Amino acid sequence: MTAISDPLVELRSVSKHFGEGATRVDALVEVSISVLPGEVAGLLGPSGSGKSTLLNVIGCIAEPTSGWMRLDGEIVYDKRWLRRDLRRLRLEKIGFIFQTPNLLPFLNSAENVAAVMELRGMAPRAAAKRAKELLAYLDVGHRRQALPSMLSGGEAQRVAIARALANAPRIILADEPTAALDSQRAGVVMDLLRRVAVDQKAAILVVTHDNKIFDRFDRIFHLRDGRLVQPADAPTERDVNAG
Ligand SMILES: Nc1ncnc2c1ncn2[C@@H]1O[C@H](COP(=O)(O)OP(=O)(O)O)[C@@H](O)[C@H]1O
Ligand SMILES: [Mg+2]
Repeated sequence: MTAISDPLVELRSVSKHFGEGATRVDALVEVSISVLPGEVAGLLGPSGSGKSTLLNVIGCIAEPTSGWMRLDGEIVYDKRWLRRDLRRLRLEKIGFIFQTPNLLPFLNSAENVAAVMELRGMAPRAAAKRAKELLAYLDVGHRRQALPSMLSGGEAQRVAIARALANAPRIILADEPTAALDSQRAGVVMDLLRRVAVDQKAAILVVTHDNKIFDRFDRIFHLRDGRLVQPADAPTERDVNAG
């Protein structure tokens, strides 16, 4: 039993290396972080510092080498995966947003959003209804019948956010979600992520280099060489811009 304010994302001493011996890369070294419901956290660090690896570990896409991880009240990793059906775990608990929207080109906005609900077993009618509501919630209801090729970059990213929310996950992972957008549209996307965090009591972790949005975070994690850097020796502007 977990309380409402318990972290939705909790990692203790999570490490991940690739390869062995002389070619071994320590992508994450003893990383411990927590993100609470309602929080929008930023994940910063130069290129190659382990940001995507950390997001992939939390998203149960990459397997850690060691450590402990709890997601949405469930211990999912303790030196090994504790669940066999990681695909289902991802569908239920986690929403992913990428730099580019990656919408299926032959489905319209509503169909793109409904597809992930149907994957989880929802009846097509119910999925279509919820897709319509979600698109309206993200201020792209008027574009629900448009194919991705007809959407602007900002609209497509809002459809992608609607899709990430489709199965009502409480953990949202976003890798450079505003990198392809101008500052006004980047601001709109961050406003929407904030709305989601508040309304759904979700924990949102955003990888970014985008200094236009640094002031939008409740909490910032800095990575360098796979290690979490304490605020005292937080990276300089140069580090941040380097990658
Ligand atoms: N699949 C992989 N195989 C081997 N090395 C990898 C792999 N993925 C990432 N790495 C290495 O792990 C380190 C962290 O990479 P990554 O998490 O992608 O960094 P970032 O997202 O901060 O740029 C880098 O040294 C990268 O080369
Ligand atoms: Mg990356």
